[in-house]
Amino acid sequence: MRILLLGNGGREHALAWKISQSKLLTSLYIAPGNPGTAKFGTNLSIAASDIPAICKACEDLQIDMVIVGPEDPLVKGIADAIQSEPSLQHIIVIGPNKSGAQLEGSKDFSKAFMQRHGIPTASYASFEAHQWEEARTYVLNHSLPVVLKADGLAAGKGVIICESHQNAEDTLRQMLLEKQFGEASAKVVVESFLTGIELSVFALLDGKNYQVIGHAKDYKRIGEGDTGLNTGGMGCVSPVPFADADFLKKVEERVIQPTVKGLQEEGIDYRGFLFVGLMNCNGEPYVIEYNCRMGDPETEVVMPRLQNDLIELCKHVGSQTIIQTNISYYPEHFATVMAVSGGYPGSFEKSKKIAGLELSFPNQHLFFAGIQSNDSGELVTSGGRVLAVTSKGNSISEAVSESLSVLNQICFEGIFYRKDIGYEFK
Ligand code: AMP
Ligand code: GLY
Repeated sequence: MRILLLGNGGREHALAWKISQSKLLTSLYIAPGNPGTAKFGTNLSIAASDIPAICKACEDLQIDMVIVGPEDPLVKGIADAIQSEPSLQHIIVIGPNKSGAQLEGSKDFSKAFMQRHGIPTASYASFEAHQWEEARTYVLNHSLPVVLKADGLAAGKGVIICESHQNAEDTLRQMLLEKQFGEASAKVVVESFLTGIELSVFALLDGKNYQVIGHAKDYKRIGEGDTGLNTGGMGCVSPVPFADADFLKKVEERVIQPTVKGLQEEGIDYRGFLFVGLMNCNGEPYVIEYNCRMGDPETEVVMPRLQNDLIELCKHVGSQTIIQTNISYYPEHFATVMAVSGGYPGSFEKSKKIAGLELSFPNQHLFFAGIQSNDSGELVTSGGRVLAVTSKGNSISEAVSESLSVLNQICFEGIFYRKDIGYEFK
């Protein structure tokens, strides 16, 4: 099969590696990709969200399957655009259409969806600017902490947990009246705070059925011991000790099955990855959010752990026969540790030369998250999250130690990574 993968981060490097293992692959293209994905296919200088250029590339390169990494092209309707073009209708798109992508693109939509289908989640109310007084009163009378969420996509920054009513009112004003996140905060979801441990669960949906393809725990805070600001993710482990068969059964029965059924009932033909962000509250799963894509850095552990041929699974999405597949996992523990630029998630400098990438690490994966080649062909930093190092081991500690020993040999000015990934399971 001729495959086009969209995106340019660590998630896409991990997907490109996994796709490259498939016996069904003939050619892989990545738009735009990074120097890591270039080892497994041909990078195209097309932005992942440039829908007309992606459609043209699909035609020119006779693509059979498009796998969409990030949410942005999905929320903008890349799947709809490909499917509405007569010459491209044979293409299998892994990623939902615009209506399915609302599960991530609108928090108000996803909360109302969960309510309609009896899926456990925190109680909430939504408000627009013209409801300011009502919203203010609601927030001031809400128990603390209270969670405020911009309705639309806000580059992972649209969720604010407020510990005081004053802070909640100020945050509400900034979002709703001062349009802190532009159109994304034209509507705000006000939600109860859930206490527990988070887990990311991943399923592949074919419009009728699904398979769970893995889970992971993401370490979101910048500092060791889960302190400091939220980031895109500083590391992950999989499998997760508390996600035992009993807990995962609850997740399937109470969350994934009603989600798949709800999508069908609402006429949404959802074909692609579904990422369910959950809180484990005393052994009971509650949905924090849906994403219409794989997680980053979760993909960097979920893909190495998954034993199945990914393209074979994706072909079953195209024929709506995912139910016929059996998912299997490698028995080891997997961990990824993310090296980031100094200053991240605040301001940071780019274009720092990276030393050590030329060394050979045969038992680990070095997935490029924010790495580009400069004009002299040297590998330099190009983002906040720079490099995800994934290892496996007979325990979480062993896997994390392996990744740390690699990072010990990688160097760029300002490099930072957490040394305590998986700390609560050691
Ligand atoms: P989201 O962008 O929806 O993933 O939210 C970002 C992070 O905020 C989540 O990963 C949680 O750590 C936290 N969060 C969101 N909603 C809640 C909630 N209702 N209770 C507690 N924490 C939350
Ligand atoms: N690691 C969280 C995300 O991909 O949204």
